[in-house]
Amino acid sequence: MDINKLPLHVGIIMDGNGRWAKKRLMPRSLGHKSGMNTMIRLAEHAQKLGIKYLTVYALSTENLSRPKDELDGLFGLFRDYFTENIKKLYKSNSRVKVIGDLSALPEDIQKLLIDGEKDSPADAQFTLVFAINYGSRAEIVNAVNAAVEKGEKVDEGKFSSLLYTSGLPDPDLIIRTGGELRLSNFLLYQSAYAELYFTDVLFPDFSAKEFDKALKAYAGRTRRFGKI
Ligand code: FPP
Repeated sequence: MDINKLPLHVGIIMDGNGRWAKKRLMPRSLGHKSGMNTMIRLAEHAQKLGIKYLTVYALSTENLSRPKDELDGLFGLFRDYFTENIKKLYKSNSRVKVIGDLSALPEDIQKLLIDGEKDSPADAQFTLVFAINYGSRAEIVNAVNAAVEKGEKVDEGKFSSLLYTSGLPDPDLIIRTGGELRLSNFLLYQSAYAELYFTDVLFPDFSAKEFDKALKAYAGRTRRFGKI
């Protein structure tokens, strides 16, 4: 891998867990569990390669209206991850950050997510960002309201600092698995100049090898940022 052509920040829309489970006659929740294991492997892989930020779309604002049993399954995974798996992440000198409206989540999960951020190593070399109950439009509207309340005019830098992603670099590459060709309210403002990569592979099957294919495609793109 050419280190000079490695993205600093990759975002992943982890789509296709439900279809992966359906193909195996399993409940959707097992698709999400398998997706979580894939996400953990990808985070380790990305860190080893030298990528500094990985943002995973774990729950959109719209996903919150899914049936209760599916949501309970997802919340169970968040609980497992933020009590157990997170320790391994910290040990590898990584931190977590959570973006989204946490107030609509069960209280114990809110606490786990907040503590997960707070207990992260201060000198982390890698950041795993969880987008949970995240929606870009709501994020932008909140930022506008925050600016209006302060009575301040904002420039692009100031506006970015009012978003959930304040302090994070913009994503260079957005990957969507599962065959759909859209962004589904994910990092809309931040991905203005991101390269987009779509694949039919369902998220649980999105291996390190598939991730490397996306990085190779990214390395082959010419990024002009609007210039010639
Ligand atoms: C979309 O697939 C995926 C989700 C709504 C959930 C993604 C969550 C995980 C991979 C687990 C994350 C775990 C932690 C600890 C953050 P879909 O259900 O819409 O799939 P479908 O389009 O095939 O139905």
